[in-house]
Amino acid sequence: MKQQKRGAFTSSFGVMMAVAGSAVGLGNIWRFPFLAGQNGGAAFLILYLCLILLVGLPLILSEFSIGKATHRAAVGAFKELAPRKKWYWIGYVAIVAGFSILGFYSVIAGWTIKFLVEALQNGFAGQSSLEITDSFNSFVNTGWQPILYTGFFIACASWIVMKGVEKGIEKYNKILMPMLIGILLLLSINSMTLSGFGAGMDFLFNPDFSKITTQTVLDAMGQVFFTLSLGMGVMITYSSYVIKEENMLRSKGIVTIIDTSIAIISGIAIFPAVFTYGLEPSQGPALVFITLPNIFAQMPAGFVVGILFFMLLFIASITSVVSIMEMIAAFFIEEYHISRRKSLTYIALAVFVTSVLSALSQMEGSPLVFFGTNIFDWLDKLSSNFFMTFGAFATVIFTGWIFQKERLRKVFTSNGRYSNLIFPVFLFMIRFICPVAVAIIFLSQIGFI
Ligand code: PHE
Repeated sequence: MKQQKRGAFTSSFGVMMAVAGSAVGLGNIWRFPFLAGQNGGAAFLILYLCLILLVGLPLILSEFSIGKATHRAAVGAFKELAPRKKWYWIGYVAIVAGFSILGFYSVIAGWTIKFLVEALQNGFAGQSSLEITDSFNSFVNTGWQPILYTGFFIACASWIVMKGVEKGIEKYNKILMPMLIGILLLLSINSMTLSGFGAGMDFLFNPDFSKITTQTVLDAMGQVFFTLSLGMGVMITYSSYVIKEENMLRSKGIVTIIDTSIAIISGIAIFPAVFTYGLEPSQGPALVFITLPNIFAQMPAGFVVGILFFMLLFIASITSVVSIMEMIAAFFIEEYHISRRKSLTYIALAVFVTSVLSALSQMEGSPLVFFGTNIFDWLDKLSSNFFMTFGAFATVIFTGWIFQKERLRKVFTSNGRYSNLIFPVFLFMIRFICPVAVAIIFLSQIGFI
C-alpha cells in the first residue's frame, strides 16, 4: 500500500493554538475553578503552580521531545526510539485511553450543543430553578436526544480531523482558540460588574493553607495531567508534526501559562455570578447545566451571556476532542496505512457506539451500570485515574532512563540552539522528581495508598 504524505503544522502560532486547544477543555472551565475554591483558594493556586512547574512542564516537554525526535505518532515513536523493546505498548494504552475519554467527553460536548440551541432561543428566560433542573434531567432521560446531539458533535470533530493537520486541525484551532479567549474575557469583564464579584473572588482566591491535605495534593496533580492532556500520546502526536526548529521550553511554557490562565479566568467569569444570585458553587455537569442556566434565566443580559458561555464550552470541548481523534487516526494511518478518511470514519463510528452506550447508561434505571457505576462514569474514572497516570508514569521513565541522552539533548535544545543550561535541570526532574511524584499519584488512584 502506498505511504501517505505526513501532515505538518505550518506556523509556530498554529502549533501553539493546536496544543492550547487540546489542553484547554472542560477541565479548565468546570473543574479547576471549583477545585481551587474548595481547597484553599490562593493556597491551592500556589500548590498547583508548583506542580505544574515540577511535573506538568517536564512531562509536556518529554512528550514533545519524543514526537519531535521521531516525527511519528505514539506507537511508532516508541518503536523507533526503543527498537525491539515493548515500550510501544505505551502507545496502545494511549489509544484505549483516547477512546475512553472520547466516550464520555463527546456526550458532554453534545449537551453543550443542546444548551447552545436552547440559549439561542432564549429558552432559559422565565424558567424557575426547579423547571431548569427538571428540564436537564428529562433531556438526559429521553436517551435519543443526547444521542442525536452527540452524534452531531462527533461528526463535526471528525470532519475537522479528516481535513488534515494543516487544513483541518491547525486552521480551525487558529480561528477557534482566539475566539475562546475573546469570549472568556468578555464574560469575565461582565462578571466584574456584578454585585457578587467580591464574594466570588473571595471563594476563588482567599488563601487557606489549612485546606491543603494529602488529598488536595493528589487532586491537584490529577488535574495537572488532565488539563495538559498528558500521558496519552496526544502531545507526542502533535509534536510529531512540528518541523521547524523552535525553542521548546519557551513555546510549551507559553502554552502552560495560557492553560493555567484560562482556568483561573474561568473562575473569575463564573463564581461572581453564582454568588450574585445566591446560589451554591459546584462543579461539573451540575454547575454548567443547572446552576449557570439558572443564572442566565435571571441575569439582565442572560440571553447574550448564556449564548457566549455555551459557545465557550463547545469550542473548548471540540478542540480537545480533535486532538484525541488525531492521536488515534495518526496511529491507524501510520501503522496500518489506512487512509485518513477511512481511519476517521472508523474512529467516528466506534466513538459514536461508545457514546451511545455511555449516554444511555445515564438514564434512570438503565441496566448499563456495573458495580454501582454507570458506563459514563466508568469511562471518566478509568481514563483520568488509571490510563492517563499510567501513561504519564511510563513516559517519564522512558524519557529519563531509556531515551538516549544525546539524542534527547539534541531535540530538547534544537541542536544546541536553545536552553542548553536548562537541559540538565530538565533531565534531573524527569529522572528523579517526576517518576516519584507520578508513582505516588498512580498508587493512590488505584487505591494502594
Ligand atoms: N485537557 C483537556 C481538558 O482540560 C482534556 C483532555 C485530556 C484532552 C486528554 C485531550 C487529552 O479538558
